[in-house]
Amino acid sequence: MSLRSDQWYAGSDRNAYIHRAWMRRGVPGDAFDGRPQIAIANTASDLSPCNRHLSEVARSVRDGVHEAGGIPLELPVMSLGETQVRPTAMLWRNLAAMETEEMLRANPIDGVVLLGGCDKTIPALLMAAASVDLPAVVVPGGPMLNGTFRGELLGCGTGVWKLSEEVRAGTLTQEQFVKSESAMIRSRGHCNTMGTASTMALVAEALGMVVPGLAGTPAPDSRLLEAAHGTGRLAVEMVASGRTPSTFLTEGSFRNAIVALAAIGGSTNAVVHLLAIAGRLGIELTLDDFDRIGSRVPALADLQPAGRFLMEDLHRAGGFHAVLREVRDLLDSEAATVTGRPLTDYLDEAEIWDREVIRIREKPLVAEGGIAVLRGNLAPDGAVIKPAAASEHLLQHRGRAVVFDSIEDFRARIDDPDLDVDADSVLVLRGCGPKGYPGMPEVSNMPLPKKLLAQGVRDMVRVCDGRMSGTAYGTVVLHVSPEAAAGGPLSLVRTGDVISLDVAARRIELDVPRDELAARTPNQATLDGYAAPKRGWERLYIDHVNQADRGADLDFLVGSSGSEVSRESH
Ligand code: FES
Repeated sequence: MSLRSDQWYAGSDRNAYIHRAWMRRGVPGDAFDGRPQIAIANTASDLSPCNRHLSEVARSVRDGVHEAGGIPLELPVMSLGETQVRPTAMLWRNLAAMETEEMLRANPIDGVVLLGGCDKTIPALLMAAASVDLPAVVVPGGPMLNGTFRGELLGCGTGVWKLSEEVRAGTLTQEQFVKSESAMIRSRGHCNTMGTASTMALVAEALGMVVPGLAGTPAPDSRLLEAAHGTGRLAVEMVASGRTPSTFLTEGSFRNAIVALAAIGGSTNAVVHLLAIAGRLGIELTLDDFDRIGSRVPALADLQPAGRFLMEDLHRAGGFHAVLREVRDLLDSEAATVTGRPLTDYLDEAEIWDREVIRIREKPLVAEGGIAVLRGNLAPDGAVIKPAAASEHLLQHRGRAVVFDSIEDFRARIDDPDLDVDADSVLVLRGCGPKGYPGMPEVSNMPLPKKLLAQGVRDMVRVCDGRMSGTAYGTVVLHVSPEAAAGGPLSLVRTGDVISLDVAARRIELDVPRDELAARTPNQATLDGYAAPKRGWERLYIDHVNQADRGADLDFLVGSSGSEVSRESH
């Protein structure tokens, strides 16, 4: 079998000597003689707490690679701790993808096992793998164990939003709030709600990029290490078979990902990530495909933020495959996985052990669990809403806009007792898109005005060009495209304008006559908020980032360059 790494190691000339000699350091010479070199792209980092345990997972992958006759090579790659990095982890997703892609291509590697967990890490790894197109398989790091506080399940993220609203409403003391902190993060692993990390782990498996049955295994569960070991073995076999992402990821794989996304009631962030991954593969996926394929799929997993339970419960109740089995008829039975076999081949054994956690198709958590795509004069290129996380009575609504030009403007004014706002108002936040923030942060689920919380209001229609945490909930129209900073109509909205939302009709409209709107210009405060940085990654990002409806990838990263590097380094 000829290997890509032979280009570095085969032969006896000066260059092969240099490549081998520096790698030897006690390793036998035959390690470079026809044995697949398997990178373990590891996002473990002390500053990405959800991924900190991945070095232990990497050891199990190493054992599996060795056992199958390959050579494991750990490759630390850029990591992103969602809760830690400023201004927002999403600003760096494309940089992490670019760095990983370039390092996989630059090195003598035949295949790769990708270790991720926290929100942006799996999307970035998948984008990289799609563009370099080497045999690749993901091991998701798994969710944390359940947290409880005062006898109730406390989900990561979701609990923070809920409890902080209670503090603002005066129904929970500050001391009780702080006390809940250590109860929430109870073990290794990523967030245990159906937030973005859980969603992207399951969606990666639905795409076919994870060994079937692995995603959703809790991080402390020894079965995660067993599966990581098996994945190491599989990576060696994938090299022998030439099974690269482009050989098995198809439109059908994305159909499966979209159906799964709806059935698990997954995060809206998956929309942006899947669009970006498809873009790397040259697959024509559009925002409308999410509505067409997924919006009427029932949500079956009763998990926070839309439901009650957490990821450990999902695993106990039968796991991801038990959910997929309920919607099997909607899946593409041809779409293959990293093993070479279709995903649907693995669903026969799945069973639901707890029908409270995993609902049967006939009794769903939400009848239409997918993401709805809205259009109208406020979002000509689209906006999304997750009806399952919204309030039924607000899905059709007209209200007066209360406009904020930035998140700082919002924070400065939202609790002002004199703010002219009531329960029917529509909160509009702009300057939070890919270019405007920059990086499209998770701020769209803006907190409600304190005075309305005190009156018992718990949800309002909110409209924003940013994203929303997958652990959040509410009637939030997000990813408005084009964003305000790119000159979208959102930049022209004024406080007092009437906005109409009709989710059933898939419309979001600004009720301002066309002539009047055409005569408006964005106000100076809007433009001042987007003072662009002058250098570095932010400069590159702002100049090249695509809008949310195209996955917010950089324009020059869309597509694939393959794995070939023809020039020597010395
Ligand atoms: Fe890492 Fe939620 S903060 S997954």
